[in-house]
Amino acid sequence: MDVSKIVIPAAGIGSRFLPYTKTIPKEMLPLCEKPAMHYIIEEGMQSEAKNFFIITSRSKYSIEDYFDTSPELATFLKEISREALLSDIEKIIRNAEFAYIRQSEMLGLGHAVWLARHAIQKEYFGVMLPDDIVVSKQPGLAQLIRVARQEKGSVIAVQEVPTECISSYGIIDVKKQITPHLFQVAYIAEKPSPKNAPSNLAVIGRYILSHKIFAALDTMMTYSVGEEIQLSDAINSMLQNGEKVFAYKIQGTRYDIGTPVGWIKAIIGMSLQNPLYAPHIKRFLSDFNTSDSFVFNPIKNIEHTL
Ligand code: G1P
Repeated sequence: MDVSKIVIPAAGIGSRFLPYTKTIPKEMLPLCEKPAMHYIIEEGMQSEAKNFFIITSRSKYSIEDYFDTSPELATFLKEISREALLSDIEKIIRNAEFAYIRQSEMLGLGHAVWLARHAIQKEYFGVMLPDDIVVSKQPGLAQLIRVARQEKGSVIAVQEVPTECISSYGIIDVKKQITPHLFQVAYIAEKPSPKNAPSNLAVIGRYILSHKIFAALDTMMTYSVGEEIQLSDAINSMLQNGEKVFAYKIQGTRYDIGTPVGWIKAIIGMSLQNPLYAPHIKRFLSDFNTSDSFVFNPIKNIEHTL
């Protein structure tokens, strides 16, 4: 089983980050020196995917521009011998292909994925939600692809979440536990209340799906009138039609950058894992009174008199 195509829903208006997202897509929020979307594409490519179908909307041009060449900047950087600054992004541009599909109405995650139906043949494909950044030795998506190959079915990434977070996620009902990290799924309850939740295993933003998801979504598109189309409902419909779906607890750290607090935590967490930034951030967090901080004061006297 080869998984070379990835659908990335990135059309949301990012209301939690307004007014920032008035002009800049939330997928372009910086995490250290790269935008979030850069990490998503890197994870996809490190998992051997090559074709990225990004579902966008109005005012998302900066995503397209980012994954395209910038000849003037490249020439300028060459003149000053700093071309290495673009090497990471140029590697992506050389080795991956991008296509953009507009979602003009916000009709939910299922609808966003459905818009890519003409790009996918009778094959398994990936879905990556850019709100979830996975930092791990083996790329998060590659872990799912390995399981999909082994089990010959669709696979969803899951993570155990505390009770107070349950109602923010799709929660899986386990049909069978195969290993400590691998489950066969009976059903996904989309954002249940904690007392109705079938488990504490929450769906996080990585999926390997059978193309059969599109038949399920087609039916839902016909019957739903202006309601949000949930990807979880389409997965449930595939399950009812006999498709096997598995859930895998991916190994690594997952950051939810869908909220400002989550994004700040991701920056801190990721910079602490980066040898370039870690010593500075550690020092800063252990004592704000450092030489690179605005409140630096060697004698710890922060009172002033005019
Ligand atoms: C979507 C899915 C949900 C999943 C979540 C992961 O919800 O519908 O099942 O748990 O992504 O982030 P959203 O966060 O888009 O509301």
